[in-house]
Amino acid sequence: MTDDTPVTSAPGAADDPSTPEFWDARYGESDRLWSGEPNPQLVAEIAEVEAGTAVDIGCGEGADAIWLARRGWRVTGADISSVALERARAHGDQAGVEVEWVQTDLLAWQAPADGFDLVNVQFFQLAEPERTVALRRFAAAVAPGGLLLVVAHHPVHAETGVPGPPADRLYTPEDVTALFAAPEWETVTAETRTRTAAGHHSGTTEFTDSVVLLRRAR
Ligand SMILES: C[S@@+](CC[C@H](N)C(=O)[O-])C[C@H]1O[C@@H](n2cnc3c(N)ncnc32)[C@H](O)[C@@H]1O
Repeated sequence: MTDDTPVTSAPGAADDPSTPEFWDARYGESDRLWSGEPNPQLVAEIAEVEAGTAVDIGCGEGADAIWLARRGWRVTGADISSVALERARAHGDQAGVEVEWVQTDLLAWQAPADGFDLVNVQFFQLAEPERTVALRRFAAAVAPGGLLLVVAHHPVHAETGVPGPPADRLYTPEDVTALFAAPEWETVTAETRTRTAAGHHSGTTEFTDSVVLLRRAR
């Protein structure tokens, strides 16, 4: 995926990236916003993990959820945008997989009590203090012994001019690991990785990803 969310936002639902109106308008700009391929850091971190239950936080057009479902995971894909979810459902049907697609504001979401074996959070870019509140909420949805994978655009994007969210919505691996301490959380991966991928407009872009995989104690 790529993200070229406008770098400024004016007041009002259509310009506020925490609203369904913003994301519905964003998805409405084209027939397909993202690549349709699973995010590379999801594949890198999870390909060898035994399947269980998973939730994809901000699942967008569904590529990660579908990739997981194809590998035997029982997946919930959750997003605020009905436009994105309509596409995700269609892509899932085309792929012949079953995913539970849920439209919800994940900032107010109550996870099921027994949690998920994997909570996948890819490019959920919030500024503080909302980021900490949201990441803690998503972490609370991880079952004992389960995994929390957080992948985000790195703050270096603000210096290198990679199009995307404003600087205060970018975060480092350390911003994430600082929230989740031992003994409840074991850090499996905390890395900054670069990759080259198609940009949203044309050509290729070098993206820098903050990649954190945490395991919750049993
Ligand atoms: C940058 S996109 C990433 C999509 C997908 N995870 C990917 O990597 O391709 C962020 C997604 O989060 C969703 N989103 C943003 N705020 C949300 C919220 N409060 N509740 C649920 N979904 C939200 C958007 O609709 C969008 O699909």
